[in-house]
Amino acid sequence: MRYPDNVVQDIISLNDIADVVASYVQLAPRSGNLFGLCPFHKEKTPSFSVSPQKQIFYCFGCSAGGHVLSFIMKIENLDFISALKMLADRVRYRLPEQNETQEVKESRKLRETIAGLNKHAARFYHDYLFSGTADAKYALRYLEKRGVELPLIKRFGVGLWPPGWDGLIKHLSDTSEELLATAGLATQNRKDTTKYYDRFRARLMFPIIDTRNRVVGFGGRIMDDNSKEAKYLNTPETALFHKSNNLYGLNLARKTYSKELIIVEGYMDVLAMHKGGFTNAVAVLGTALNDAHTRLLKNAGCESVVLMLDGDNAGVRATLRAIPVLSKAGIKVKTLDLSKGEKKAKDPDDFLSLYGAAPLKALLSDSKSHVAFQVGLLKDNYNLSTTEGRVGFTEEAAKLLASLPSAIETDAYVADISKEVDISASAIFTEIKKQQGEKPAVMYSTPKRSIRSKKEERGVQKAKETLLYIVLTYPAAANALNKSSYIGKEEIGEGLHFNLLEFAFKCAAEKRTLSPTDVITAFDSNEREVAEIFIDQPDYHGKDAIQKVLNETAFILKRAWALNQMETIENDAKTVQILGFAARNMPTLCI
Ligand code: GTP
Ligand code: MN
Repeated sequence: MRYPDNVVQDIISLNDIADVVASYVQLAPRSGNLFGLCPFHKEKTPSFSVSPQKQIFYCFGCSAGGHVLSFIMKIENLDFISALKMLADRVRYRLPEQNETQEVKESRKLRETIAGLNKHAARFYHDYLFSGTADAKYALRYLEKRGVELPLIKRFGVGLWPPGWDGLIKHLSDTSEELLATAGLATQNRKDTTKYYDRFRARLMFPIIDTRNRVVGFGGRIMDDNSKEAKYLNTPETALFHKSNNLYGLNLARKTYSKELIIVEGYMDVLAMHKGGFTNAVAVLGTALNDAHTRLLKNAGCESVVLMLDGDNAGVRATLRAIPVLSKAGIKVKTLDLSKGEKKAKDPDDFLSLYGAAPLKALLSDSKSHVAFQVGLLKDNYNLSTTEGRVGFTEEAAKLLASLPSAIETDAYVADISKEVDISASAIFTEIKKQQGEKPAVMYSTPKRSIRSKKEERGVQKAKETLLYIVLTYPAAANALNKSSYIGKEEIGEGLHFNLLEFAFKCAAEKRTLSPTDVITAFDSNEREVAEIFIDQPDYHGKDAIQKVLNETAFILKRAWALNQMETIENDAKTVQILGFAARNMPTLCI
């Protein structure tokens, strides 16, 4: 399902970014742009800026940025197509009929239908919880006993599936029973296939809401722990619900814009965490953490995770399995094992009801890299009273410590281990170094550019951005630079910057003029970086002004490159001479 690029561009250009943003954020003019309090992170002084001229936004605090469509996607939590539709509606733009295949269209329709039915069902259960019947009163008492009070019930839309066989089927009587079964809300009788009954009965219902705010399914908990039925019953896999592709509470957690999320095991843990003020907690739905989960986490802006799973064996195994999955995705992992330490509990819910939020907060702020957790487990496998055991443990621990990103943390663990096993710290360090030697420890290597100061580096960065802005905005400048071959991959750096440079050259050669939103659209996975390049750039008027900036910024990059070459590479006299020349003489690029 795709709309043609020109349709997307039309809708972007019809929606003035300043108008759109103004209905979410109060903006005031400052140094050419509009500024306001960033809606994407907490702040007291405005660092969120909108350029009406360039039609982009950028936050100097959290570096969110992009064009008007990115803004709507982010603030309304919508996918591309839904945000596009919203902006099209706003300016009464008629979107062309989509050329999706019949099959794709039908499955999309089915998912929409199921989401609609689920929403009705969620309301029905929620209302039933307050119906005043004896079982509703019982359920409310049960919730109260577990510390789940009204605000929490409302926030999570907790409900109660009424007793009986067909409460929901009757309530949604204008929907076919077959469709209700497809939605996972009803079950077909195995013997008499013309008969259907409610899938869940007399269970507390936790609606599972995805990041697009659709009720995709439910978790249903029994209230009698002596019952022979399963404690939880989830919606079965449907066209809309996949339990391994959802995180309970992520719809709420992502609105905290917190870069660190806490992963707990159960529905009740998420509720308890919210009650304790930890609104960045989410739960897996009884499955192992997988790559789909990490994608969801990353989409929510999550950079690090605290795993706070149950302290039993299953929880430990789940933690050990989750660590590599998260690390692989570049998410930092910390662990908090509540079954250890002074204040013990079996899960976060239990901990909070025993000790309250303050000690948990302290534990969380002190939670350690996953390595500590693994070292702790390792200890249980060795008999530390024998020399053999101590050596074996130290070797294995060194392997784990070799992967730690922070030298300070490594030091601390080495000191601990050294004391515990009575092996000198220097011997442990030697072992760690050995491990690192086997696979190059990228994380430890510091760039050689020690001589150049931070300030100079910032100057180069700024020059890079200005140069890219100039060539992307003024085709004549791009053509002149392209012809000269003065700046290439080496000077501008591989990756996005080089791609932008090539893009500028290509468009200029095709006589295409670009607006900032064109560039953002073309590089939509790097919208922040592109917005950052554009947001603060002034307009240059006249050939002379543009030519001057072009030469100056290109020279700064060339000089930085030449100096760097001289520093890092062993050069012969001739090369040094060439580099020295490059570092001293500004080019004369004519546009
Ligand atoms: P409480 O026991 O009420 O505190 O609930 P909890 O949410 O803490 O659940 P628990 O720690 O027992 O289990 C963690 C998660 O595993 C639950 O939230 C469910 O997602 C899942 N789970 C537990 N028991 C069952 C079950 O019997 N069937 C299914 N399908 N999932 C379960
Ligand atoms: Mn529990």
